[in-house]
Amino acid sequence: MCGIVGIVGNKPVAERLVDALKRLEYRGYDSAGVATINDGKLDRRRAEGKLFNLETKLAGDPLPGSIGIAHTRWATHGVPNETNAHPHFVEGVAVVHNGIIENFSEIKEELAAEGATFTTQTDTEVVAQLLAKYRREGLGRREAMHEMLRHVTGAYALAVIFQDDPSTIMAARSGPPLAIGFGDGEMFLGSDAIALSPFTNRIAYLHDGDWAVIGKQGAHIFDIDGNPVDRPVQISSASAYMIDKGNHRHFMEKEIYEQPEVISHALSHYVDFAEHTVRDMASDIDFANLHGLAISACGTAYLAGLVGKYWFERYARLPVEIDVASEFRYREMPLSKDQAALFISQSGETADTLASLRYCRDNGLKIGAVVNVKESTIARESDAVFPILAGPEIGVASTKAFTCQLAVLASLALAAGRARGTITEAEEKQLVKSLAEMPRIMSQVLNAVQPQIEALSRDLSKFKDVLYLGRGTSYPLALEGALKLKEISYIHAEGYAAGELKHGPIALIDENMPVIVIAPFDRFFEKTVSNMQEVAARGGKIIFITDGKGAAASKLETMATIVLPVVAEIISPMVYSIPIQLLAYHTAVFMGTDVDQPRNLAKSVTVE
Ligand code: F6R
Repeated sequence: MCGIVGIVGNKPVAERLVDALKRLEYRGYDSAGVATINDGKLDRRRAEGKLFNLETKLAGDPLPGSIGIAHTRWATHGVPNETNAHPHFVEGVAVVHNGIIENFSEIKEELAAEGATFTTQTDTEVVAQLLAKYRREGLGRREAMHEMLRHVTGAYALAVIFQDDPSTIMAARSGPPLAIGFGDGEMFLGSDAIALSPFTNRIAYLHDGDWAVIGKQGAHIFDIDGNPVDRPVQISSASAYMIDKGNHRHFMEKEIYEQPEVISHALSHYVDFAEHTVRDMASDIDFANLHGLAISACGTAYLAGLVGKYWFERYARLPVEIDVASEFRYREMPLSKDQAALFISQSGETADTLASLRYCRDNGLKIGAVVNVKESTIARESDAVFPILAGPEIGVASTKAFTCQLAVLASLALAAGRARGTITEAEEKQLVKSLAEMPRIMSQVLNAVQPQIEALSRDLSKFKDVLYLGRGTSYPLALEGALKLKEISYIHAEGYAAGELKHGPIALIDENMPVIVIAPFDRFFEKTVSNMQEVAARGGKIIFITDGKGAAASKLETMATIVLPVVAEIISPMVYSIPIQLLAYHTAVFMGTDVDQPRNLAKSVTVE
């Protein structure tokens, strides 16, 4: 997944295109490029690595022109070097692309057999080659675009400019999102509305299969068959969020520390703090009469869903089927209309999650979406949207979105429990009271554990492998801890259900394998301590994350014990997220990795 942007305007565009790319860098950041047409000539600047390199290049060698397209890349086909960076040029055609052209190798073979010379390893180049071929064969620009779209399959958001038309950008969408922005005598195109937010808030979203011809005064939009279609112009609430990091070294740190505030904001949307009840959620999902819930998501969002499963089953007695979206979408799972489906996604654009959503919708299920970006494709294609209200999350490793997803899922599980009569009024009050205490407790924990965890991170950074263990809702948290550590520190880490240890992973335990045990003093505590004992007996080094009661009850020697306050079981996943996140964060800082933009990752994954 990459970010694309375009401007057809009445003043120079290169600087503004790069500015828009900065807001799309979350989609990929391994190379970037910009192309403009000036005095009837197409020209471009491209650079490997972060956007800064492109900016430096442009500063030394500016690119004039009042029409242009630009791209920030997350490599799928071809290594991330300057040659493979977009825009791709073929005979007066320039193309930027987000997605994957699935039939690119067949097209490439055919074109090569006809004599075409390919200069990159990318799938995107076939788009430029096809357009150039159709122009050579005498087709007009629109006809060439339409013909090219008939030949390519896969997922794409495309922007194209032709050297012989310095007043038009062509765009097409199949899968990844594409927004058209309406300005005054200028028009814009971007992978999302946030990229365009400093330029305009009047946005029309292309539907799947749409393509568009965009001039300075407006856009003509067509469906896949070439019929003109109207896409409503909406006023976008997206705001330019090039917010600074405040006093923090990284966005990730800032986002960890924002959690008490954003969770409080999210919760106030779902619970009544005065009455200690869950708010009525007028939604198309009839929780009272459901026979099952299917949850699907990817990565951290999937792990939030896994915690949600425990809550829906416990408090609402609602059976939950959960799977990572990349498997769910192909499982051909039998579904019935008395089930609903819930999709969790920070970005609301994750390709596999969206495909799972469409599978469920095609099977007649009502769809709920737990998303951060309310204008996202997943939100727009759902019957009921449950916003997590975390605010923009810039750090690639999810932190506040995860805990806000949890807060929303806990509220939804309680709402479902009330609707199904599986929790009493008194229980609801008690549980909501616990939720209401959470922001305060999280603040307290942030301040209390930070110095200890920072010091411990130095020791942790010396190891090559780390194991995380937990039971109940601490099990998904163990998985999340391992995911967080590996993605930003690059230390190999695995999470296991504590009870699974003896079924295999115990073979790995020795003095070189720290084991991080997440164990509040809850109904699972004794059992988890037995598993810890198994680790200690084999020389494993234990980092024990527990509460005051747990620390007092366990007599085991540990490498470190991080003591949190005793909290209600329903809020422990959110509270215990804090030491997990801080441990990964400080270890990564200590190791000197690029914490906010770790290698090989992107914030929004719009390819399979
Ligand atoms: C990990 C992380 C990813 C995302 C995953 C899903 O820190 O952020 O695992 O959770 O790529 O993304 P969304 O939530 O945007 O669907």
